[in-house]
Amino acid sequence: MSTWNVGKVVEHKQWSKTLYSLYIKSDIEPFEAGQFVKIALEINGEVVGRPYSLVNPPDSRPLEILYVEVPNGPLTSRLVNLKPGDNILVASRAHGFMILDEVPPAKNLWLMATGTGVGPFLSILMTDKPWQHYERVILIYAVRTLSELIYQERIMQILAKYPGQFSYIPFLSRETSDFALTGRIPQAIIDGRLEARAGIKINAENSQIMLCGNPQMVKDTNNTLIERGLKKHRRFEPGQITAENYW
Ligand SMILES: Cc1cc2nc3c(=O)[nH]c(=O)nc-3n(C[C@H](O)[C@H](O)[C@H](O)COP(=O)(O)OP(=O)(O)OC[C@H]3O[C@@H](n4cnc5c(N)ncnc54)[C@H](O)[C@@H]3O)c2cc1C
Ligand SMILES: NC(=O)c1ccc[n+]([C@@H]2O[C@H](COP(=O)([O-])OP(=O)(O)OC[C@H]3O[C@@H](n4cnc5c(N)ncnc54)[C@H](OP(=O)(O)O)[C@@H]3O)[C@@H](O)[C@H]2O)c1
Repeated sequence: MSTWNVGKVVEHKQWSKTLYSLYIKSDIEPFEAGQFVKIALEINGEVVGRPYSLVNPPDSRPLEILYVEVPNGPLTSRLVNLKPGDNILVASRAHGFMILDEVPPAKNLWLMATGTGVGPFLSILMTDKPWQHYERVILIYAVRTLSELIYQERIMQILAKYPGQFSYIPFLSRETSDFALTGRIPQAIIDGRLEARAGIKINAENSQIMLCGNPQMVKDTNNTLIERGLKKHRRFEPGQITAENYW
């Protein structure tokens, strides 16, 4: 069982009107890239906690979470006020099965995220595992507008480190640009734009897919992939799709 540790905010970065990264110094048990940890504040005498994916890889500190301010959200509307030096509660253990140890081997690993769902994939991409186990790794990062396409510097560093092996495909749904695909992930799978951009096909024989973020995206993408002959991965019934819903 997890207990609460008292952590300290060491940095709070605002990326856009609603997006923030929070850096926290806190004890935590060893974790795997892709896992989430509960973060909490005491609000009106009650501990209000929510799960957040860790963006930092397991061997790096401070702890880093990426969050979006949800209008009237009980926790996020308070998180936005935190300053360096403030206390924050952090669960002692991280959890979650969206980790590469749970994903079967394949030729290609597709990481598909909306919004803050990119966080756990950044952690995974900063470890050695994806590069040792997959010939190609494709990060798909879908947001509404260009100002919400964040962590570009880190993604460019990964691109520079693994040229040829790593592909990055951004999506904008409410703006157009000369480099991102327009619209939503499932539609771009159906109409072939996603695979055309990656230069490889998704099929059950060569692909493992990880999905993270908006539950409607997870559901629609899952259904689209099932139409292609892929299926949900279960420990005792191996498949190709591993997913985490954020709400
Ligand atoms: C396993 C897991 C991991 C998560 N990791 C993250 C993370 O890394 N970053 C993060 O920002 N959130 C993450 N969440 C969501 C997070 O736990 C909170 O729900 C969120 O921060 C809002 O908290 P709140 O108390 O302000 O509002 P809540 O009452 O918790 O949520 C209110 C509503 O906000 C919307 N919402 C919640 N989270 C998001 C989101 N991330 N993007 C868009 N809309 C959202 C939903 O419509 C939800 O019903 C995760 C959730 C789960 C289950
Ligand atoms: N982003 C903002 O400007 C903004 C501003 C203030 C408040 N908020 C609040 O912040 C929260 C999070 O917003 P967010 O933009 O980070 O997350 P989001 O609403 O999950 O959107 C992220 C991306 O997921 C896409 N998406 C949504 N449903 C999908 C589906 N069924 N299939 C495939 N893709 C899908 C969106 O496309 P679509 O654009 O086509 O939906 C968008 O590109 C929301 O509660 C929102 O109300 C956001």
